[in-house]
Amino acid sequence: MSERWRVEAGRVWTGSDTAPIDDAVIDGEGATITYVGTQDFAPDFFGTARSAGLVTPALIDAHTHAAWAGHRHAEYMLRMQGADYVTIAQAGGGIARSYEALTAVDDDTLSAILDARLRRMARQGVATVEVKSGYGLTTEGELKQLRAITRASKNPALPRVVRTFLALHAVAPGLSRGEHIDRMVGELLPQVAREHLADRVDAYVDTHAFTVDEADRLFRAARELGLAVTVHAGQFSNVGGAELAARHGAQSADHLENISVDGARALAQAGVRAVLLPIASYTLRQAPPPVALLREASVRLVVASDANPGTAPTESLPLAMALAVREYGLTIEEVMHGVTTEAAAALGLASPVLCVGAPATMTLWDLPHENALAMPWGAPPIVDVWRDGRSLITS
Ligand code: NIG
Ligand code: FE
Repeated sequence: MSERWRVEAGRVWTGSDTAPIDDAVIDGEGATITYVGTQDFAPDFFGTARSAGLVTPALIDAHTHAAWAGHRHAEYMLRMQGADYVTIAQAGGGIARSYEALTAVDDDTLSAILDARLRRMARQGVATVEVKSGYGLTTEGELKQLRAITRASKNPALPRVVRTFLALHAVAPGLSRGEHIDRMVGELLPQVAREHLADRVDAYVDTHAFTVDEADRLFRAARELGLAVTVHAGQFSNVGGAELAARHGAQSADHLENISVDGARALAQAGVRAVLLPIASYTLRQAPPPVALLREASVRLVVASDANPGTAPTESLPLAMALAVREYGLTIEEVMHGVTTEAAAALGLASPVLCVGAPATMTLWDLPHENALAMPWGAPPIVDVWRDGRSLITS
């Protein structure tokens, strides 16, 4: 018999269509929720209840590059003084710098870095993290990242991990563009599928990155191997990444600072979610994506951190939530769904709504209301975060 537990909460934001519940109780047995409702109707309980101001489904970060090594602090300071991201990248900084840092660490060191980062993310209320490769660039480097990510995905004491092979991020040093693409699509992708090292495939489609046709080749091959696809689209310019995502039935199109009306409509029609990454556009001093246009087209919105050492030097999904409200003008409902129900859908996961029979994967906040979660705390105070009824902080 698994243990029965109770959480008493000033307020529960369940993630369902019904209104949040004030003066609420959540009961459970082991990993599963057995009651969510008001105190008045709660069943008898004789143990010691936990208490929290606010309970929400545990947050889901649907876009991160969390398996990075090293730092890019010098580049950040150059950029803050006016140097341009693309110019730095073309001069050997940017992704190439993170490639070098990754090359310098062995498998176990990378695993330790990633696991520690995921633990810190859990302390921000997050119990599911999508992690991309993409700094390995070579076959060996990408495998190093994917193996560390896969190892983390098997550890129940860490947030749940969704693994993405970012096959087209930058060209590996010493290879021509064509050679790099042949290697990633023709050789590494089949190996990744065979060895079950990823759940999804990603490509960075932009003027200074990869073309729609190059990504199209990758996505066709990936889908034949049964892998889902997602795309970095429209970060610096609109080259048709959203339309590409729609054609392939991608799980999401991410960034989208630059997207046309037709692109937005294509996403909505194909049910592709828009993953908004406000920390990246803030860091790069870019204008927000056209949120009104996305809403108008009824595109489903996700909010994620983009955690990476260059454009989003953070581990904080709550910071992205705060900036989504402050910079993008999202409502609290849009943001909350963007880091729970919509984020789950974008990763092909079951709905995280807190209801009877659902897994107790939830965050206990020392906050009075979900509004406070998206205020600029950066690190809002949490009481605990549970994955399937187990604390990710104390276990
Ligand atoms: O999502 N745009 C490409 N990829 C990352 C940044 C990569 C980097 O600078 O390390 C992004 O912003
Ligand atoms: Fe990214």
